Amino acid sequence: MQKNRLLYLAFQDVVDVDLTMPEIIESMEKMFQAKGEGRTEMPPKPGIHPGTGDSFIHAMPASIPDLNSAGIKWVSGFPDNPARGLPYISGLLIFNDVQTGLPLSVMDGVWMTAKRTGAASAISGRYLARPDSSVLGILGCGVQGRSHVEAMKVLFPIEKVMAYDASEEARDLYIEEVSTQFELEVVPAQTPREAVSGCDIVVTAGPMMKTPHATIRSGWLDEGAFASLVDYDSYWQPAAMHEAAIFCTDDTTQFRAVQDAGYFKDIPELHADLGELVTGQKPGRETPAERTMTANLGLALDDMAVAPLLYQKAVEKGIGTWLDL
Ligand SMILES: NC(=O)c1ccc[n+]([C@@H]2O[C@H](COP(=O)([O-])OP(=O)(O)OC[C@H]3O[C@@H](n4cnc5c(N)ncnc54)[C@H](O)[C@@H]3O)[C@@H](O)[C@H]2O)c1
Repeated sequence: MQKNRLLYLAFQDVVDVDLTMPEIIESMEKMFQAKGEGRTEMPPKPGIHPGTGDSFIHAMPASIPDLNSAGIKWVSGFPDNPARGLPYISGLLIFNDVQTGLPLSVMDGVWMTAKRTGAASAISGRYLARPDSSVLGILGCGVQGRSHVEAMKVLFPIEKVMAYDASEEARDLYIEEVSTQFELEVVPAQTPREAVSGCDIVVTAGPMMKTPHATIRSGWLDEGAFASLVDYDSYWQPAAMHEAAIFCTDDTTQFRAVQDAGYFKDIPELHADLGELVTGQKPGRETPAERTMTANLGLALDDMAVAPLLYQKAVEKGIGTWLDL
């Protein structure tokens, strides 16, 4: 019998593939189009909780026939890890052959989790933010705080970033790195409000908490601004979220499951998910003055829109280690 192999891509291999943010955004837009038209499969993600507090390990399977993509990401988030010198998010993705079901690749999932989450926010922004948005507020200067600048810069004429972090050290390192890497003016925000008021796009990417710290109050987010709630509703007081004219997510079914698990207790009515926005089934922003929000939860479909590109490019470039099955 034929000997079958899979391509193992370690974290550095995935980085070395050098997939660009525009390529990620393009593939994810195709996926959201297919999702909106009912041509994808994604059961709600089951999770286990072996650690303490808000830690989780989730199974994220999905299939996108349009992209010849099928597989699963097994991803963990352990909030105590940074204090141990370990990453908060870790994970592995298995990419399967859609014809035979055989695993083609096992790849580190950390890089794609960072990039696809920023890309999903930027795609939401295409429908919900003002196209002339130039000032970006970032609360939480970590992995997501970085990938969101990269992704927003692809779709918006970003000139200035207002950066806030609970840790001044993390914020200052971020300012040094992001201003150099993206050739942007990155200004330290001394308070959370300075990274919200006066910004066209606001991204909250601090810790995700079942009991929100709810720092952002009504009146802080400017008229006409768009906010992406990457850390669920942890950062927002209910009254501040209720100021949004439209409140969206990336997948309605998954959103309801997360609500059943105790998150998003007091939010505006859901207007649309991202498949509905991309396909035009529901309108996005309709006036320059309205405040808009999305709380994208992160979908298995996001990862499975990125995995085939990583695999194909790795094969082309001879990156990774072949392992016998
Ligand atoms: N929705 C999604 O698809 C998705 C995907 C991945 C991560 N996330 C979430 O995004 C958030 C950030 O993840 P990450 O990987 O960037 O983590 P990270 O650990 O790299 O960065 C988090 C940053 O937040 C800072 N911080 C802590 N408390 C804060 C506060 N109150 N205000 C501002 N900053 C604060 C930390 O100092 C750190 O710099 C987490 O809540 C994570 O669960 C969401």
